[in-house]
Amino acid sequence: MADQKTPRTLRSRAWFDDPSNADMTALYLERYMNFGLALEELQSGKPIIGIAQTGSDLSPCNRHHLVLAERIRAGIVEAGGIPFEFPVHPIQETGKRPTAGLDRNLAYIGLVEILFGYPLDGVVLTTGCDKTTPACLMAAATVNIPAISLSVGPMLNGWHRGERTGSGTIVWKARELLASGEIDYQGFIKLVASSAPSTGFCNTMGTASTMNGLAEALGMSLPGSAAIPAPYRDRQEAAYRTGLQIVEMVEADRKPSDVLSRESFLNAIRVNAAIGGSTNAPIHLAALARHAGVELAIDDWQDYGRDIPLLVNLQPAGEYLGEDFYRAGGVPAVVGELIRQGLIDEGAMTVNGRTIGDNCRGVAIEDEKVIRPYGRPLKAAAGFSVLRGNLFDSAVMKLSVISDEFRRRYLSNPDDPDAFEGPVVVFDGPEDYHARIDDPATGIDENTILIMRGAGPIGYPGAAEVVNMRPPAKLIKAGVHALPCMGDGRQSGTSGSPSILNASPEAAAMGGLALLRTGDRVRIDLRKGEANMLVPDEEIAARRAALEAEGGYAYPASQTPWQEIQRDTVGQLETGAVIEPAVKYQ
Ligand code: FES
Ligand code: MG
Repeated sequence: MADQKTPRTLRSRAWFDDPSNADMTALYLERYMNFGLALEELQSGKPIIGIAQTGSDLSPCNRHHLVLAERIRAGIVEAGGIPFEFPVHPIQETGKRPTAGLDRNLAYIGLVEILFGYPLDGVVLTTGCDKTTPACLMAAATVNIPAISLSVGPMLNGWHRGERTGSGTIVWKARELLASGEIDYQGFIKLVASSAPSTGFCNTMGTASTMNGLAEALGMSLPGSAAIPAPYRDRQEAAYRTGLQIVEMVEADRKPSDVLSRESFLNAIRVNAAIGGSTNAPIHLAALARHAGVELAIDDWQDYGRDIPLLVNLQPAGEYLGEDFYRAGGVPAVVGELIRQGLIDEGAMTVNGRTIGDNCRGVAIEDEKVIRPYGRPLKAAAGFSVLRGNLFDSAVMKLSVISDEFRRRYLSNPDDPDAFEGPVVVFDGPEDYHARIDDPATGIDENTILIMRGAGPIGYPGAAEVVNMRPPAKLIKAGVHALPCMGDGRQSGTSGSPSILNASPEAAAMGGLALLRTGDRVRIDLRKGEANMLVPDEEIAARRAALEAEGGYAYPASQTPWQEIQRDTVGQLETGAVIEPAVKYQ
């Protein structure tokens, strides 16, 4: 490969070998040689390949990338490149306070500066835990140098007493068991910990498996690589191949703008429905599309995704976990099945220089219990429904997780099977919810619709994953396992709750939710795609005027500089909750 290079075109030459700028070149060179790189290496015309390292002790989901980096390096060197590994701002979904939602844009901004300002010809993005994947892809789209993503892979399956316990999903279940007194504190911790038996990210179809699956569906990672469990040897092999591939990409000058197209995003939307992907996907894909300059609207999720059936039988929508998904064929098997239905734009380019059609056409499903054939799905029409009305301009509902119990309770009126209404109880932020959910004075019964507001990108900076609220313990004991929930925050991809979420604009931006009061009635119509408070227009206008006179919807003060900067610059969830001034840099 070495003799095919065209060194003139490599951007790193402007740092390391520019005779017209000798004094700066000397300065750039000397310090990069201080750990053993030779002058002739740096001036060899070999591409300098960044390894954007997202793993660390603070980011356990991605920590295995510290090991995989050795194989990435081996691939890069083998193909004739020089690896430069550097850290990315750590993101840990579950460990970061107040929410890791803040960190996606911070990691994005930081990575843009690195990719732009250092002598890198291409980059391997080490992705994994929820927001690490969009953060890396967004930065690569902005800087638009050759980039390939490598998923760290899910943990091995979790087990407890012979049953699969999936990360995140088991937490929701264990909280119910704890609330109803069926397990104690020790039992609760043990049950939850059983779901995390190895290195890797959440083994359910949460946001991590979703976003890495979608990165592959978009064409940004090697075919078949997203779903390999972290500890498998195949994962090490994928790391090596990714290192080989990025050098070829630099030689071919294949950039994110060659891969990320409207067609690839529509493919990803369809794949998301088929895998039962996370409700965080519309937010992250909107953000990525905006940084890539690709048109993508929230309605595209309904127009292209809603009627796609659920094929992948993974928790939380189904029963299996990450190892099973990989053995059943992973993303290529899903894409292959959608290709057979004519539902994939086969011409979309991918990192390996082949189209997604070429990569996945003819790939078979290896285990039909885990990946169902299109004609025998787990659920029909399993994508997202987009709702709007006087409460918000848009909100999203994940249809694949509507349980039979939920359907019986709320969607079984023979005259009006797709609609329900009820009085609301409004919570202002997660602290308010935790303080009052079990307080009898809150007055929640089985007809109540729970509202979470103040949890959007401005209100709870970054948007908290808190819209899926469990019912009061007394209702759970009475057999009510889920109440309808609605809000301007996000929801964990591991939750099986059919909440109405990502409401935009949020209460803190004076969306309709800010005007809702406990005791108001709300009507949801899934067929019409509507969610409205049954409050007269004049009353709504009066409430708005009164709240504006008070200075708007109140939310807690920022605790850190970044919280304030993000609040001042962030957009709404519908449009990706990006740092708005960043979008013009493409
Ligand atoms: Fe990191 Fe789920 S918490 S992947
Ligand atoms: Mg999450």
